Amino acid sequence: MRIDILTVMPEMLESPLNCSIVKRAREKGLAEIYVHNLRDYTTDKHRKVDDYPFGGEAGMVMKIQPVDACITKLKAERDYDEVIFMTPDGEIFDQPMANSLSLLNNIIILCGHYKGIDYRIREHFVTKEISIGDYVLTGGELPAACVVDAVVRLLPGAIGDEQSALSDSFQDNLLAPPVYTRPSEYNGWKVPDVLLSGHEAKIAQWRLDQALERTRALRPDLLNENS
Ligand code: ADE
Repeated sequence: MRIDILTVMPEMLESPLNCSIVKRAREKGLAEIYVHNLRDYTTDKHRKVDDYPFGGEAGMVMKIQPVDACITKLKAERDYDEVIFMTPDGEIFDQPMANSLSLLNNIIILCGHYKGIDYRIREHFVTKEISIGDYVLTGGELPAACVVDAVVRLLPGAIGDEQSALSDSFQDNLLAPPVYTRPSEYNGWKVPDVLLSGHEAKIAQWRLDQALERTRALRPDLLNENS
């Protein structure tokens, strides 16, 4: 999978894309991720990527020209399945959306910054708009990093233990059961006996019961979706 991220703040993406599973997936060639600094695409002699809004609102607006230049160049090189814009008024990101994005070959993710982007970009280039939740961040970079992380960890081979991504919370509309590691007793706090029993079927049943119990207690809305 190839992901091209367009931003005016490339440094905000540096560590999320160069740590942990995303880093390893890139090293293994499972995910090719390129971050493009929109300042490199501006024709403005001062490398300006934003300007004052028409109509006199407060704040600056990202200009159309650098975004057009970058997207047009990328699209001339290959086909893209989606041009995604990260925005708080987009469709709320969730696990099913991560699953379906992970099946695509090439995607562009455009990060907004400042007050917003020239609306014509959304009308003429963007095919999908994603929000990571009902709150406003400084820009689309951290949301883009969330989407990339959630998607890349699903690529086959990205996680050592193939089962691991499938047993995540939300993957079956259930929250994950608790996990424990050594020591089996700490300060008198014990790991549930069943996990030490070696009895696979009983452990599987315990995990399912716990997942159901936690989902019922913490996120009953997930269970309602099933009914
Ligand atoms: N840009 C700013 N806030 C955002 C959010 N919540 N989701 C996606 N993009 C954003």
